[in-house]
Amino acid sequence: MHNSFLSLLMIRKSQILNLCNCDDFKYVIDDDVLPDGTFVPRGSTVTYSIYSIGRMKTIWGQDCLEFRPERWLTAEGDRFETPKESFKFVAFNAGPRTCLGKDLAYLQMKSVASAVLLRYRLSPVPGHRVVQKMSLTLFMKNGLHVYLQPRGEVVA
Ligand code: HEM
Repeated sequence: MHNSFLSLLMIRKSQILNLCNCDDFKYVIDDDVLPDGTFVPRGSTVTYSIYSIGRMKTIWGQDCLEFRPERWLTAEGDRFETPKESFKFVAFNAGPRTCLGKDLAYLQMKSVASAVLLRYRLSPVPGHRVVQKMSLTLFMKNGLHVYLQPRGEVVA
């Protein structure tokens, strides 16, 4: 399966559907000033919403709520590319404390997606409502009910 496609699936999964933390917290150990000039006193907690950052018009454009996976492709459209500004997509944090398991997480999700999609076509069960359940990590309230249609013989 094409690697770019798997990357898009994975990104979509972590950005919108499933695995991203909704919020991230930082504890302020010393008085500090944020890049925008906001003073943060020692002992305070700063939080940012990963969920909201993945849905902001100022970052993703007017169509920020649309599933448009091609926004993750290069201009030529042939390759998956993470955003140049790493703070645009923060499901794995950004900067020096970026998630150390990021590459492993990508690999795991691509492995599972390719193992399933190579063997089956998936279609949602009609009438099943896919609803987010808000929590620290996002997941689907009622699960994702799908029909699996075998694609035929797969050579392992
Ligand atoms: C989709 C799956 C994953 C997501 C969305 C995710 C997300 C994150 C986020 C947002 C942070 C930053 C937390 C913070 O400092 O505020 C983080 C840190 C970290 N993650 Fe992950 N993670 C994932 C999978 C994994 C896996 C599979 C491993 C290990 C095998 C891992 C290991 C770590 C470690 C060690 C840190 C701390 C890095 C540091 O503070 O320098 N993560 N992760």
